[in-house]
Amino acid sequence: MTGRKVAFIGGGNMASAIISRMVSTWDNPACIHVADKNFEKLENLHKEFNVTTHQETGEWLSEMDCVVLAVKPQQLPEVLIQNKEFLKDTFVLSIAAGVKTKDIEKLLGQNRICRVMPNTPVREGLGVCGIFMVSKEEKDKETVEAILKPTGLLIWCTTESMIDSLTAVSGSGPAYVFLFLAALEKAALEFGFTAQEAHDMAVYTILGSSTLALKSDETFTSLCKKVQSKGGTTIEATKVIEGSGFADMMLRAMEACRTRAIELGDEFSKKVEKAE
Ligand SMILES: NC(=O)c1ccc[n+]([C@@H]2O[C@H](COP(=O)([O-])OP(=O)(O)OC[C@H]3O[C@@H](n4cnc5c(N)ncnc54)[C@H](OP(=O)(O)O)[C@@H]3O)[C@@H](O)[C@H]2O)c1
Repeated sequence: MTGRKVAFIGGGNMASAIISRMVSTWDNPACIHVADKNFEKLENLHKEFNVTTHQETGEWLSEMDCVVLAVKPQQLPEVLIQNKEFLKDTFVLSIAAGVKTKDIEKLLGQNRICRVMPNTPVREGLGVCGIFMVSKEEKDKETVEAILKPTGLLIWCTTESMIDSLTAVSGSGPAYVFLFLAALEKAALEFGFTAQEAHDMAVYTILGSSTLALKSDETFTSLCKKVQSKGGTTIEATKVIEGSGFADMMLRAMEACRTRAIELGDEFSKKVEKAE
């Protein structure tokens, strides 16, 4: 990857996770710029990844091929209003959860925009990023791919509402998996394993099963059946899990998450309307 200049406004958790993957494929990390209010964060990012850092946003943003908005949603209106003149011709990629592209468009007065919903495993290159492009420019799509490909799986969403649905499945999904890990660990502890053994057994069970699923052409149901046998042990467990309405409960959980994602988006839109 050469030549492209990308700036992050906000050098916090998610920006540093994405940058940590980008530097594995970008020839020149100095082409990655980061602006943050916090000097210590900038120093750490420069030390770790050799990226170019800035304590202030400003005119330099207009020289970028892409500016990634990586501040908290509540910090975003101020950032957009302050930098409007430097972003008027620049491709802007927002990772702010629940912020709709029409609101960014209103605040910037332009529509070379893209919205992305990443999840925390992007740091390991095993994340999922949902992408909704408003910009129609092919070079912007290529820039998105160059930035996000090293982070894991990319799902191109054809409607913006798909981002809310994706938030419920993969955006918040790591939390569901951590709950499941905690349940496996708790049982292992109760059965007398040490804390380390219980932790590692849980992690390897999820990692191993996910790796099997990733490499296999079989459905999850078919892979599950391979562990179960009539009269065996696994079927006694899966009877309890299925009997407790596990799949329905997970669906209800994700519907609640999607509803909240929609609400947050609407709340942000109202704030933008008021600010106009
Ligand atoms: N973390 C996740 O799992 C996740 C997942 C999906 C999407 N996202 C989205 O990613 C975005 C960033 O989240 P995060 O967890 O990385 O947040 P974070 O760790 O708080 O990072 C945001 C950074 O931006 C800085 N900042 C605030 N205003 C600024 C300004 N005007 N100019 C420059 N820097 C500024 C903040 O400084 P201060 O701390 O001093 O305010 C902070 O260092 C959010 O919009 C979030 O919705 C996060």
